[in-house]
Amino acid sequence: MKDAAPTTVYLADYTPFGWQVEDVHLTFRLAPNATRVIARIHFARATETPEQTFFLHGEDLKLIRAAINGEEITPEVTDKGLTCDVPGGSFLWEAEVEIDPAANTALEGLYMSGGMYCTQCEAEGFRKITFYPDRPDVMATFTVRIESEMPVMLSNGNPKGAGEGWAEWHDPWPKPAYLFALVAGDLRNHPDKFTTKSGQKVDLNIWVRPGDEGKCAFGMQALKASMKWDEDVYGREYDLDVFNIVAVDDFNMGAMENKGLNIFNSSCVLASPETSTDANFERIEAIIAHEYFHNWTGNRITCRDWFQLCLKEGLTVYRDSQFTSDMRGPEVKRINDVIDLRGRQFPEDQGPLSHPVRPESFQEINNFYTATVYEKGAEVIGMLKRLVGDEAYAKALDLYFDRHDGDAATIEDWLKVFEDTTGRDLSQFKRWYSQSGTPRLSVSEDWADGTFTLTFEQHTPPTPGQETKKPQVLPIAVGLLNPNGDEVVPTTVLEMTEARQSFDFTGLSARPTASILREFSAPVVLDRKSSAEERAFLVAHDTDAFNRWDANNILARDCLMAMIRDGATPDTVWLDGLETVLRDETLAPDFRASMMGLPGQTELAQALHERGHTPDPDAIYDALQTLQQFRAERWADLLPKLAEEARVTATYDPGAEQVGKRALGNSVLSLLSRIDGGAAAQAQYDQADNMTLQLSALANLIRAGKAETALQAFYNQWQDDRLVMDKWFGLQISAAPPAEAIDRAKALTEHEKFELTNPNRFRAVFGALIGNHAGFHRADGTGYALLTDWLIRLDDKNPQTTARMCSAFQTWKRYDQSRQSLIRAQLERIKVKENLSRDVNEMVTRILS
Ligand code: TRP
Ligand code: ZN
Repeated sequence: MKDAAPTTVYLADYTPFGWQVEDVHLTFRLAPNATRVIARIHFARATETPEQTFFLHGEDLKLIRAAINGEEITPEVTDKGLTCDVPGGSFLWEAEVEIDPAANTALEGLYMSGGMYCTQCEAEGFRKITFYPDRPDVMATFTVRIESEMPVMLSNGNPKGAGEGWAEWHDPWPKPAYLFALVAGDLRNHPDKFTTKSGQKVDLNIWVRPGDEGKCAFGMQALKASMKWDEDVYGREYDLDVFNIVAVDDFNMGAMENKGLNIFNSSCVLASPETSTDANFERIEAIIAHEYFHNWTGNRITCRDWFQLCLKEGLTVYRDSQFTSDMRGPEVKRINDVIDLRGRQFPEDQGPLSHPVRPESFQEINNFYTATVYEKGAEVIGMLKRLVGDEAYAKALDLYFDRHDGDAATIEDWLKVFEDTTGRDLSQFKRWYSQSGTPRLSVSEDWADGTFTLTFEQHTPPTPGQETKKPQVLPIAVGLLNPNGDEVVPTTVLEMTEARQSFDFTGLSARPTASILREFSAPVVLDRKSSAEERAFLVAHDTDAFNRWDANNILARDCLMAMIRDGATPDTVWLDGLETVLRDETLAPDFRASMMGLPGQTELAQALHERGHTPDPDAIYDALQTLQQFRAERWADLLPKLAEEARVTATYDPGAEQVGKRALGNSVLSLLSRIDGGAAAQAQYDQADNMTLQLSALANLIRAGKAETALQAFYNQWQDDRLVMDKWFGLQISAAPPAEAIDRAKALTEHEKFELTNPNRFRAVFGALIGNHAGFHRADGTGYALLTDWLIRLDDKNPQTTARMCSAFQTWKRYDQSRQSLIRAQLERIKVKENLSRDVNEMVTRILS
């Protein structure tokens, strides 16, 4: 049990551990309910560190025996770990503990999933395996012996030997305990090879449960592409003889970068055209790259303490987004990343859970694997690169790898390599790591005597624990277009450092139109009072794809807000301008699909709230439906033409070209199915030979209320495929009309295939319910109550996943008084639950504060 009185950990309290771990030798005697773990560890007093009591973390461990230098001892054991007297200098620590992996539903430490043993140690799970200084700045080489009847037994590093019922592994790279991994099971592999640029041969394997062998080829391609890309772009080579990936069905997050043995949520590695959508393929490719890239940014250079989490996560997200840009094209990737940032990070940064990219305190570190640490952390690196330029960025990274290889590093170390390569002072830039909240940037324009002046003002509203904010360094990418739409000033990065600052552009013959914050060059909210004509001009002419998309997005948002607030009719000037863009065959299909997109319901709720209106979820939903219906009718000629362009005749391929066409086709279908009685959706469903088309057809049939037969057929076809069944569970709720969402969700929790303890299935249902904005926020509060019932149930089994899902309530202050009190009542109900986990307690307390 976790402790009732939560303790807070502070960045400022960092002290190094008083001993060095020279090596770790672990023996695992695997048994579902009584696994024995025998540890032999050499410690040596680190003389430069302050005097301290010898303390090893340990939770849920049954201590069988402990010895120092071969002599049995009786340490003092609490629910957090143990202390004992130790000799000065170096000594051998031995401990044997018993653990119960079959009973471990928290999926942290050693646990069982579908009959196999596996581990998850980040952030603080290793302490559930054996007593150890479980902190990232303690690094050691590990030798692991596994004893079990399982045919496949894996751990980190290189294989050392194997025989009947045992296998040994040795990892020569010193690592923190959070990168430890072990897997044992009846697994099949999909093997391949890679030769590094210096000629080292590496055996690659993707390990899966029998039956999933046919879903590995794409992941393997993605892995090889990632290995090559990291050599080409960052000069980083792989450093072991083998690289193993294992797919696991029960997993709290996407995947984990354990040294040489990445463990993946099966949803983030298994792929086939029949069972995976284009979006799944792209996500799998990105996550495989992400975990592989961690080998350098995370493993070879790790974090000194968990406050530095963004050091590895922000950088690795940045690297995987560069990879995806290179593989699939930068334009739509950037648009999608910004949609994601605004949809997940902005609400976090502007609500009760707001925290800096580098937090300064926490109760439960698992609660800080957030969009802020990951996505805003990546944005901060993008800004740094924009400010110093590509060449200096490459030099700084070389220095970083050179200087800090083998280190447990800090954000200060990271910024120092940039200061040392560029001679810049980054002390102001560092505020991006310590100041929470989303800066608001407003801009005004002046035109006189051939000079165009942009005056910017920045201001960051207060966030929890930070009343006042200082100005931040903002790279503002700007381009100017002349009245014909030609670019007269190509993209220039303005460097704003003051609260208010002006920039002049001289020698212009006519007043230009400015394209501001190109490529979304800084993670801010841009307040720009600009006319609809000006935005339409940018939609027609901007050479920056992101801003072209964003200008359209703002027109769409304004149109929808006018419909919601004043009952206005859709803006036909905007729609006709957009139609011209959609008819432009020189534009890539995926870009045109993005241009057809509309702001989501949560984004509209946020936009209304920001302008002082209380969002009404039903009105938002209705406006979106009305607008889609209107567009479908108005574009009745355009749609068949686009559908024709979107047609793919070749065999399915998850590469960018076909994906772009299918994206366009699916955007068209969602309009077409509103005016053809669902005929096109039904035809697409019947003919689909891949999941992308099958699922989008099904979504449209559900929305049209014509999916009963298709849903049953889908179930019959896919009932034995867990990942496809997750889609079946989720889509019925996410695509349902709001009035039906809660009943559907409730019914699905009673379905025989619903599994409380499988995070993918739980998220399929409740993630979909939360995502059905008007459904979840039904005025009578039944959505809140249903989610809460199940969060309370899940907390006893899996605190991590429960805590993450509490963020569904983080935006509660946006809504009307009645909804607010309904949500508050549910949060308070969670708070008083018996044995509430530390994870959920912290989340609920912060959300309520
Ligand atoms: N480090 C992992 C990544 O970003 C994510 C991670 C952290 C994780 N904690 C976890 C994954 C717990 C699974 C379970 O790739
Ligand atoms: Zn990561």
